[in-house]
Amino acid sequence: MTLRHLVLFLHLASVIVWVGGMVFAYLCLRPAAAALPPSQRLPLWVGVFERFFPMVWGAVVLIPVTGIGRLIEVGFGNAPRAWHVMMLTGLVMIAVFLSLWFGPWRRLRAAVAREEWAAGAVALNQIRQRVGFNIVLGAATVAIATLGLGV
Ligand code: HEM
Repeated sequence: MTLRHLVLFLHLASVIVWVGGMVFAYLCLRPAAAALPPSQRLPLWVGVFERFFPMVWGAVVLIPVTGIGRLIEVGFGNAPRAWHVMMLTGLVMIAVFLSLWFGPWRRLRAAVAREEWAAGAVALNQIRQRVGFNIVLGAATVAIATLGLGV
């Protein structure tokens, strides 16, 4: 095992935890939790995100460090175009996560602490939209990275 293997492992493990966690939350947990009343559903989501978002923070640090580290090693000018596109889409995904963290996630936590379920539902819906966007962009990024689409 070389350092390059370890870097690629950390890059991909981070992608799997982040994108896989979003897919599970959106496509499995969300439809199942929809049956609960807001007074149970919104605290459940706060508990879920309190555990998931620290993992996402790890991913949004490790992914650019490992990815840009490899680009520097190869040289930006020599790198395949797909790697440049991946950097762009990856940075957009990270920006969307940061907007979610500093915006609706704070509002959701505050609303749940005050038992303001209507405001909490609005914030949760904004989180859902941004997570949905990142799932699509994450899937597109994996496709760009692996399918040889000539981008
Ligand atoms: C700042 C953002 C990113 C940068 C600079 C970046 C850069 C890179 C580089 C340079 C490689 C090649 C590593 C190697 O072969 O040794 C790579 C591989 C890969 N990246 Fe990223 N990446 C970023 C974000 C992402 C994101 C957000 C995803 C998925 C959602 C992703 C998915 C992948 C995959 C699946 C591979 C493996 C491709 C293969 O081995 O054929 N990357 N990345």
